[in-house]
Amino acid sequence: MGQGAKEHWGRGQKCIGSGGKRATKIHFSKDFKYLEIYFLTNLLKKMPSSYIKGIGYYVPETIVTNADLQRHMDTTDEWIQERTGIQERRYAAKHKETTSVLGTNAAKKALTNAGMDANELDLIIFATLSPDYYFPGCGVLLQRQLGITKTEIPALDIRNQCSGFVYGLSVADAFIRSGMYKNILLVGAETHSMGLDFSTRGRNVTVIFGDGAGAVIMSATDEQFRGILASRIHANGEFAEELAMINPGSHGGVHVPDPSVYGYEEAEYGETFISPKMLTDGMLFPNMNGQLVFKNAVVKFPEVIAEVLEAAGLEKTDIDLLVCHQANLRISQFVQKTMGLRDDQVWNNIQRYGNTTAASIPIALAEAVEAGKVKKGDLICLAAFGSGFTWGAALIRW
Ligand code: ACO
Repeated sequence: MGQGAKEHWGRGQKCIGSGGKRATKIHFSKDFKYLEIYFLTNLLKKMPSSYIKGIGYYVPETIVTNADLQRHMDTTDEWIQERTGIQERRYAAKHKETTSVLGTNAAKKALTNAGMDANELDLIIFATLSPDYYFPGCGVLLQRQLGITKTEIPALDIRNQCSGFVYGLSVADAFIRSGMYKNILLVGAETHSMGLDFSTRGRNVTVIFGDGAGAVIMSATDEQFRGILASRIHANGEFAEELAMINPGSHGGVHVPDPSVYGYEEAEYGETFISPKMLTDGMLFPNMNGQLVFKNAVVKFPEVIAEVLEAAGLEKTDIDLLVCHQANLRISQFVQKTMGLRDDQVWNNIQRYGNTTAASIPIALAEAVEAGKVKKGDLICLAAFGSGFTWGAALIRW
């Protein structure tokens, strides 16, 4: 055996983590390739896939129409519908419903749909940009509300705003494929209504957002070609402040040319997280460069959908249902047109719920399932774009 073959063999042993008898019979570098394929094939055979075992959503009862908003700010139903497609949205019941409460309600429905008990969960992933507390995150609150603190399962909180659900799905899929966890609860939930500016100053943002929650149970399966076929997530921090809620926060004015605009006090430590000026000047609300968001979203949605299709070796004509993050009906329609999809191949519900960021995809998907639009074997494409900017997509064989 030549030196090269020895080197190859050594790498092979390390790679497959096996010093078994079968392996010691093979001593040639060309045979290493066969050995590698043999082990990889077996490894892949044993590697589980992840699939959505259960799904559920919850939206608050209170319906807020465009006409209702007109009582607080200078806006019209015509403006809102023409630019966003939104007719109404839901608002959480004050002092009763929070992001974690909405998330818990959705999670309970997903568990029932999966025929599972909360005690069977191995991990919680909670995606939101409107958490109950700055910290701890909503994951532990949801764990407590599900009554499963004794299980001591981990609770992972993720941000990623409108892309939060797709980011979470990608993380859950990787955990399940690795064999680390078998049953993961993934929740996307938002309570925007408590943090919006209801004066005319905030109208460009406020009219868009609504409250709600969606949840899925992701489980391991040995069934080949089922579940998550591919997922891709991306980010570009260049535009971080273009769709953001800057205050309160620990940025201390670092990312802006003139920190004095925030009215920081002269104390040696502290007093930068929130200042009286932030309150008086109404600097505690989200801001959005709508046109920049629009321009980037209509490019990145089709781009990342094409990426997952290519990864799975599929074509856009294979898609049975596209569920886009419900950012704005105009964005979703633009994506549909770009991809040449028929109306029955997309699911939009922003008209009724507004933009619920991390919750929008699981709510829309759960609704589509409930409406009988999703059948076993269907190819479902999920896609998101949002603050960060972040974006991503996933392909699911139902
Ligand atoms: N009602 C009435 N007038 C309004 C409102 C409102 N709610 N909001 C803004 N206006 C006015 C503005 O003051 C402005 O008035 P002016 O011309 O007198 O100055 C005028 O409407 C046009 O304002 P623009 O901000 O330029 O409005 P635009 O045509 O860009 O539409 C919109 C705004 C709908 C947000 C658009 O930019 C858009 O669709 N952007 C995509 C961003 C998006 O959908 N984000 C969703 C959340 S982010 C996400 O989920 C990815």
